Amino acid sequence: MTTMNKNETYHEHQPVLLQESVEYLITDPGGIYVDATLGGGGHSLALLSQLNSDARLVGIDQDDEALRAANDRIGNDARFSPLKGNFGYLTRLLSPELQGEVSGVLFDLGVSTHQISDAGRGFTFQEEGPLDMRMSNLRGVTAYQVVNEYSYEDLRDVIYHYGEERFSRKIAREIIDRRPLETTTELREAVEAVVYGKHQIKSVARVFQGIRIEVNRELDMLREGLEQSLEILHTGGRIVAISYHSLEDRIVKKFFKAGNHEGKIEKDFYGNPMTPIEEISGGIIRPTEEEINKNRAARSAKMRVAEKINLPEV
Ligand SMILES: C[S@@+](CC[C@H](N)C(=O)[O-])C[C@H]1O[C@@H](n2cnc3c(N)ncnc32)[C@H](O)[C@@H]1O
Repeated sequence: MTTMNKNETYHEHQPVLLQESVEYLITDPGGIYVDATLGGGGHSLALLSQLNSDARLVGIDQDDEALRAANDRIGNDARFSPLKGNFGYLTRLLSPELQGEVSGVLFDLGVSTHQISDAGRGFTFQEEGPLDMRMSNLRGVTAYQVVNEYSYEDLRDVIYHYGEERFSRKIAREIIDRRPLETTTELREAVEAVVYGKHQIKSVARVFQGIRIEVNRELDMLREGLEQSLEILHTGGRIVAISYHSLEDRIVKKFFKAGNHEGKIEKDFYGNPMTPIEEISGGIIRPTEEEINKNRAARSAKMRVAEKINLPEV
C-alpha cells in the first residue's frame, strides 16, 4: 500500500502531451473549455495559464480524490469550476447555457498514476489489494463481482474483447475453478497458472485492463462523451482525445472520421458528405522520445484532434 500523502501522489501524475494538447485545444483564449478528465489537474492548470480572465474551465472527474487534489493544486481561480460526474453524461452535467457555447473538450483517458499506485483501489497487479477497480465510488459493479459472479461466457468475452487476450478461454475457466478470488494477487496467480513464458506478464496486464474497462464501462462512456461533446461545442470548437490503448483509439478514430460510431459518412441528396466533424491532427500525434524517457506512462499515448464544422446548406 502507498504510504504517501494522497494529494502528493496526484501531483506526481505527469500530464501527457501537455504542450501539444493545450496548443490544439485553445482557439479562443477567452472561451469556455471542458477538461473531461481532470485527474490531478495537470492539463487544467496548463490550460488556465494560457486562458485570459474572461475564460471558463469546467473540470470533470468521477473520482472524489482527483477532484480534491485538483482543487488543491489549482487553488482559488474564479475561472475554474470542478464538477463531480461521468463524462458519459456531459450534456446533463453542464448547465444549459453552456450547451453549444464550448470552445474545446479535452479527454485524457484511462486512470491516473495515483489511482494505479494506490493498491487499495485494486487497479494494479504489482501490489496486493482488493478486487475493486472502480474509478468512481458513485456506483457500479466491482472487479470482485466480475471475477466471481459473471458466467463463463461473459467473463471470457470481457477478457477477450476488452483485454484483447487470446488465452481468454483458459484464463476464464481457471478463474472460475478458483472462485472465490478476493485479491489482485489471487487474480494474477490465476492467470499465471495457465499462461506461461515471456508473455505471461502481458497477459496479466491485459486481463486487468479488460476487467477495468468492464467495471467502469469505459468504452460506452467514451462513445457517449464524444457524441455529447459534439452537442456542447460551437462550430470551430475542438475535441482533443488522448488514448492509451487501441480499443479507445479505434473509437476516437471512427468518430472523428464520420461524427458517428458506425464510421459511416452520411451524404445529402447530391452525394455531398454531411460530416459534422473533421480530424485536424492528420492522424495520431505521439509523445516525443524525450517525453517517453521522462515519463514511461506516456509511451502508449495517442492523441487525435477534431474540429466541429458547419454542415453545408441543402
Ligand atoms: C489520465 S487521468 C487524467 C490526468 C489529468 N489530465 C492530469 O494531467 O492530471 C484520467 C482521469 O479521468 C478520470 N476519468 C476516467 N474516465 C472518466 C469518466 N468516464 N468520467 C469522468 N472521469 C473519468 C479518472 O478518474 C482519472 O482521474
